[in-house]
Amino acid sequence: MEQQKRYGHFDDQHREYVITDPQTPWPWINYLGNEDFFSLISNTAGGYSFYKDAKFRRITRYRYNNVPMDNGGRYFYIKDGDTVWNPGWKPCKTPLDFYECRHGMSYTRITGRKNGVEASVLFFVPLKKWAEVQKLTLKNESKEVKQLKLFSFEEWCLWNAATDMENFQRNFSTGEVEIEGSTIYHKTEYRERRNHYAFYHVNAPIQGFDTDRETFVGLYNEFADPQAVMEGKPRNSHAHGWSPIASHYIEITLQPGESKDFVFLLGYIENEQDEKFEAPQVINKKKAHALIAELDTTEKVDKAFAELCALWDNLLNIYKVRTGNDKLDRMVNIWNQYQCMVTFNFSRSASFFESGVGRGMGFRDSNQDLVGFVHQIPPRARQRIIDIASTQFPDGGCYHQYQPLTKRGNNDIGGGFNDDPCWLIFGTVAYIKETGDFSILDEMVPFDNQPGTEVTLFEHLKISMDHVIKNLGPHMLPLIGRADWNDCLNLNCFSWDPNESFQTTENVSEGTKAESLMIAGLFVVTGKDYVALCKKLGKADEAARMQQAVDAMIEAVKKHGWDGEWYLRAYDFYGRKIGSNECDEAKIFIESQGWCTMAEIGAEDGLVAKSLDSCKKYLECEHGMVLNNPAFTKYIYEYGEISSYPEGYKENAGIFCHNNPWVIIGECLAGRGNDAWSHYAKILPSYVEEKYQTLHKVEPYVNCQMVAGKDAFRPGEGKNSWLTGTAAWMWYTVSEFILGIKPDYDGIRIDPCLPETAGDYTVKRKFRDADYEITIHPNGAQKGVKQVILDGQPIDGTVIPYSPGKHVVEATM
Ligand code: BGC
Repeated sequence: MEQQKRYGHFDDQHREYVITDPQTPWPWINYLGNEDFFSLISNTAGGYSFYKDAKFRRITRYRYNNVPMDNGGRYFYIKDGDTVWNPGWKPCKTPLDFYECRHGMSYTRITGRKNGVEASVLFFVPLKKWAEVQKLTLKNESKEVKQLKLFSFEEWCLWNAATDMENFQRNFSTGEVEIEGSTIYHKTEYRERRNHYAFYHVNAPIQGFDTDRETFVGLYNEFADPQAVMEGKPRNSHAHGWSPIASHYIEITLQPGESKDFVFLLGYIENEQDEKFEAPQVINKKKAHALIAELDTTEKVDKAFAELCALWDNLLNIYKVRTGNDKLDRMVNIWNQYQCMVTFNFSRSASFFESGVGRGMGFRDSNQDLVGFVHQIPPRARQRIIDIASTQFPDGGCYHQYQPLTKRGNNDIGGGFNDDPCWLIFGTVAYIKETGDFSILDEMVPFDNQPGTEVTLFEHLKISMDHVIKNLGPHMLPLIGRADWNDCLNLNCFSWDPNESFQTTENVSEGTKAESLMIAGLFVVTGKDYVALCKKLGKADEAARMQQAVDAMIEAVKKHGWDGEWYLRAYDFYGRKIGSNECDEAKIFIESQGWCTMAEIGAEDGLVAKSLDSCKKYLECEHGMVLNNPAFTKYIYEYGEISSYPEGYKENAGIFCHNNPWVIIGECLAGRGNDAWSHYAKILPSYVEEKYQTLHKVEPYVNCQMVAGKDAFRPGEGKNSWLTGTAAWMWYTVSEFILGIKPDYDGIRIDPCLPETAGDYTVKRKFRDADYEITIHPNGAQKGVKQVILDGQPIDGTVIPYSPGKHVVEATM
């Protein structure tokens, strides 16, 4: 394999990824914002901002699938004599003397140097503020006086990102702005039903501005050569309709060695209905003034930045490992946890692969994401569980997605994905084990957000289990419904019409025999959790009732779900096997191997070991395990979207990273530490970063949803970075199953599964009100803790009982 070009490297000390060449193989992005105001930012400052909901409250405009690909963002143009350049290289693409982008924990710093001037921009969203700060520092490193002309640039989105892209007959007439001093206000539709506006401010006097895009750019020019910038003359344009923008113009003189800071602020404001205007047609700017006043000096901004950094110090102090393997430590201690927080905030809504328009928060997605951040922000995990459960229906089914702004179920996609209910148990149990907070089970939670329908959260869990039991097929296995975890296995869809969406089209449910082994495994795993929870709550009858159902499911899988060398994947509408040696293609699938091995179904008869061996034999390749093998080579009407993808991509034999950890956990439960580790390292970003930056294409510091599989044209090429359940599953796998630090109701269970080569390591873990420093001595063992010593005293078993305070633990394998 040829030596691959490198575009950056990790800086662990600062918890940053440092990009040193702006021409990355794909835009490498970061996320800003922690609660309400969010931004996406690429390594060339492309991207956009929104408030809470990337569809309904899009603040700045971004065009997906553009040419060039990443076009539009927050741009600073610096005109130094005849040279015009940007600190992030784009959009002018003037060659820079130095370029660096540092993506850190909720901030990005981009630095460019040209002809003796350095421009460095720090981008972040301060805690609890509805604004993006852009702190620009200009420094004259030359020996001459520099006379610079600075133009800022943001393009407003007309709020609804979907209609912004299509309803031009209206949009070109609605745009409105106001200009006051150094602040440009965007107030489109404020005159009618909106009570929110945005603004773009700079903490310095300006010598001009522009707010009309075509006047600034010129109809036949581009972001790369806006007329106003090229001529060094703002037009002071006032937008009426068309496309409003915000651009400040500032003339700057810098003595040799001198540097100046400018704080730009992109803010969002909501007003009460009766306080919208300060005069007819004039927006009430009181709150904007207040927000600006909080961030109008370098000192205030630096303080806000320090607070953000302190937050991340705290978040990343909760679980810290020291193994001596930098590649592992940096993923566990920094990037994996960071990605989990991003998926918590964004679910699958807004990335450079998700337009922010199509998908809100997924029911199953968000429950899984929860295991990635529950240790860091338990109160928000609690609220998330309640929000998710509130979109459930009285029969236990649920909306597949909901909108973050309204928290209402999304009617376009509806429900009927029969795995969804089980995930509520998965998320809730993880929350209780982390916090010990059983009171969440008594919370009154409505159905479909309808007031008056509330029952306890525990009742929601119960009907979730019952939903599976009440929807069994002819082999007493769970009916799949529209689909299970694999949204693309559409066994009741039957579509020949290219104008239909596989996801939303009406399904045939009458007479279906389509059953899922993935749901069967998931039911057993979450069913065991549910039984244990019931016992803990003293609900012996309910525990016994569900244990019977779990036992019956195990029997059904052994009887009708085993193919000889691996677990079947499903039965189709007509009751024919899917994922069987008898099939022509796609003889084996990963999802059922993962879930049935995690459920340890038939372990005593060797089924688990055989299944795991089959994964190695048929699914594994250089870049991870593929979803199915061999890939489908033709569209199969009875299977739906899965067979619509070319070989090796997405759900058709791509390496769907999300499900690799399921098999890895299966390996860990079976005690096969060498195999678990080798599967894990293949999809661990830091290992990929070292070898495959060009091939992999997408960001090397986070997992992506899919890497092209062995049947693809370019195996190893990544896609759909950032927003993927892979983040939470990688975290869950490494923190609890490989390193073996597992929160439990009464304490922390120590149960690592390691490669034979692992050396001693230490995990510092905050758990409720306790601090544990846990050192593991593997002694060459892959599994099995022989002795645990807590504060100098040996204990029985491997669960360290929870007690507040500081504790030192030694575990010998
Ligand atoms: C969806 C998941 C789904 C997975 C596999 C992802 O894009 O967000 O909900 O389980 O694809 O189809």
